[in-house]
Amino acid sequence: MLKIVVLISGGGSNLKTLLEAADSGNEPFTVVAVGSDTDAAGLSYAQERGIPTFITRPSHHDTRDAWGAAFLTEIQKHHPDLVVSAGLMRILPSNFVEALSPNLINTHPALLPLYPGAHGVRDALAAGATETGVTVHIIDTGVDTGPVIRQHTVSVLPGESEADLHERIKAVERPLLVHTVRDIATGAIQLDQLSNA
Ligand code: GRF
Repeated sequence: MLKIVVLISGGGSNLKTLLEAADSGNEPFTVVAVGSDTDAAGLSYAQERGIPTFITRPSHHDTRDAWGAAFLTEIQKHHPDLVVSAGLMRILPSNFVEALSPNLINTHPALLPLYPGAHGVRDALAAGATETGVTVHIIDTGVDTGPVIRQHTVSVLPGESEADLHERIKAVERPLLVHTVRDIATGAIQLDQLSNA
């Protein structure tokens, strides 16, 4: 059974889908803890299941590296096989990334390497893209630059708002993330072979 820690900053619909999949009893992974940088609403999905949660706030640390080290310490208490960033809206410092790589993945709402950063959906719309999508990738020390594991394309509808497009991307993103974690758990995906490290 692959033990995962999920990291979030917001609503946590990707987390919820991972938890529901694990609840089914048919998946080769289990969520052992959920961490955040803030009072993320999605932490409730873990709390209602009795799964441990933790918050490590950047404002309580002098530097980004110090925050990363403290966050890492909390994560490692749960001895995960895989750490999944599912809507964690922070750039992770290199000490953090190097300690967990390549067993540290992220989901991003665009077809990387297009539209990295915090506004992947907005940037695709601003560029006039007719298609965009979602990428699950290994986190490296750059911003959304790590090796791609899986991608799925989503067409952009004429006149669509950022919120509507993001919701349609998330409808594809949630099952893609579950499928990817399942394949990592079974060995169908081998992160060390995809990694540049
Ligand atoms: C996802 O689209 C993720 O790719 C992006 O933020 C969103 C988080 O959604 N970084 P949720 O909190 O899982 O609902």
